[in-house]
Amino acid sequence: MKRIRKAVIPVAGLGTRFLPATKAIPKEMLNIVDRPTIQYIVEEVVASGIDEVILITSEGKSAIENHFDYDFELDTILKQKNKQELCDNLNSLSKLIDVVSVRQKEPLGLGHAIWMARKVVGDEPFLVLLGDDLVRAEKPCCRQMIDLYNQVGEAIVAVQRVPMDQTYQYGIVEGKDTSYDRTFKVKRMVEKPAPGASNSDMAIIGRYLLMPEIFDILGTTTPGHGGEIQLTDALQVLSNQRSMYAYEFEGRRYDAGDKLGYLKAIVDIAMEHPELGTPFKEHLQSLCLKKQETGD
Ligand code: UTP
Repeated sequence: MKRIRKAVIPVAGLGTRFLPATKAIPKEMLNIVDRPTIQYIVEEVVASGIDEVILITSEGKSAIENHFDYDFELDTILKQKNKQELCDNLNSLSKLIDVVSVRQKEPLGLGHAIWMARKVVGDEPFLVLLGDDLVRAEKPCCRQMIDLYNQVGEAIVAVQRVPMDQTYQYGIVEGKDTSYDRTFKVKRMVEKPAPGASNSDMAIIGRYLLMPEIFDILGTTTPGHGGEIQLTDALQVLSNQRSMYAYEFEGRRYDAGDKLGYLKAIVDIAMEHPELGTPFKEHLQSLCLKKQETGD
């Protein structure tokens, strides 16, 4: 069985839900407490034992590559000002990963973005993490998936249960139980099903472990929902060719590409922060008390 060594992170989307904030700044660079969203995602990759990251980027996203690069000028200035701790922090960030980036010239969909990675990934299984999907877990979500892959040796999509009236917002998986913990064998996948089109509540989130065969399939996938080349459509074909598993990961997931999901991530992460946590919780408690008193 081939080892998982590479992670693809597509960040080429337009981020229209966050306009005007994302007019000049990539949504993946929006800050959550003390670092940009993309850094949490890269930290998950590194904590899962992977050090080769392939970013699928587009015009205007160079801030992401710069964020993980070494900044000689900043380093020199911080050293002159005796800010050694800040310096060390920034340097450890640039040592975190080696980034290879591939340009997606047009935003033709997530499936197309993944297809752009085919030459860099080559003939081996790989991970995909969406650049705006955050998962907080004791054992990193990608690590959980790699551990399952080491047992099943097949593609895996991470899923979470969602209320039935929200399934139309997700790629939905129908599957049957297996002997592996929290794991289902995929039978069918539907992208954003219309009400009644599926009775499953298992929604695909932004973590995938894929087989290299997906590239050939994506190369022949025609635009689907929303006129975009959909990864879910290609996954459906892959699951017809060989086994595929849906894995109900352990942890909390935030859609940081959506305003409410982004705010929830900020509040939860701020509450857990070693220095900010306590004063932030006190602030929230005083806010709640005031609301109760005024009855709003
Ligand atoms: P989204 O649909 O959440 O991203 O795609 P978006 O298009 O940036 O956001 P909105 O809806 O306009 O606000 C999920 C992931 O796929 C990437 C995005 O960057 C995001 O990580 N993506 C999407 C691409 O890389 N290329 C695409 O053509 C589309």
